[in-house]
Amino acid sequence: LSAPERIVGAIELALGATGPLAGQHVVVTAGATREAIDPIRILTNRSTGKMGYAIARAAIQAGARVTLISAPTNLSPVEGAEMIDIESALELLDAVQTHVAGADALIMAAAVADYRPLDVATDKIKKADADMAIQLTRNPDILATVGTPGAIRVGFAAETRDHEANALGKLERKNLDMIVANDAREAMGSDENAVTLYFRDGRIETLGRDAKTDLAQQIVARVGALILARRAPSL
Ligand code: C5P
Repeated sequence: LSAPERIVGAIELALGATGPLAGQHVVVTAGATREAIDPIRILTNRSTGKMGYAIARAAIQAGARVTLISAPTNLSPVEGAEMIDIESALELLDAVQTHVAGADALIMAAAVADYRPLDVATDKIKKADADMAIQLTRNPDILATVGTPGAIRVGFAAETRDHEANALGKLERKNLDMIVANDAREAMGSDENAVTLYFRDGRIETLGRDAKTDLAQQIVARVGALILARRAPSL
């Protein structure tokens, strides 16, 4: 990290010590998983990790202890976060299982590959004149698989069509407290996004087009409110 980045990080940590998420442990996943084809080639997607990193930073600013489980990105590590580097969906599953124990929230912003090559070649695959096919096998759905007793569960839905129906289906299937829906083409790689939040209790909230850093703060504020509501359901 550069000196200015370190100074900003130290100020964020100092401000966060008394923030609304002080004492909470938040696990965030970010980035595009990489699925090996052979020692040289990978299968991946266009997610840059910006939204997940912005959420990790916003959670730190709000005072949380943050574990950021990250697939490879071009972003600087988040100062103050416990950084866990993974590559594949299976490694991500393993890391989430390890770090989510006792956490207050799991926010899955990672773009996880739905499939991985069935066989990973030990040597570089050589070209031939004929076409070739790579057989893919399903990756486990991490959110649907991992038990998170007591933690608020937040997922993302990046779609190119039928945003609402898809988001509501995932909210249900993945047993989420909140899902952040956005348009995949608008979101990927951009510094801005427009998102709609769908909550387990049926509430829907649209956050207008804004910088990902600002949206991240609003998303983290909603997660903080959900943590509080779970603690004191009668309030
Ligand atoms: O089903 P879909 O991939 O569209 O759902 C997206 C949400 O589920 C994201 O929060 C993503 O991190 C999570 N996910 C997961 N495990 C997968 C695929 C996606 O936890 N194998």
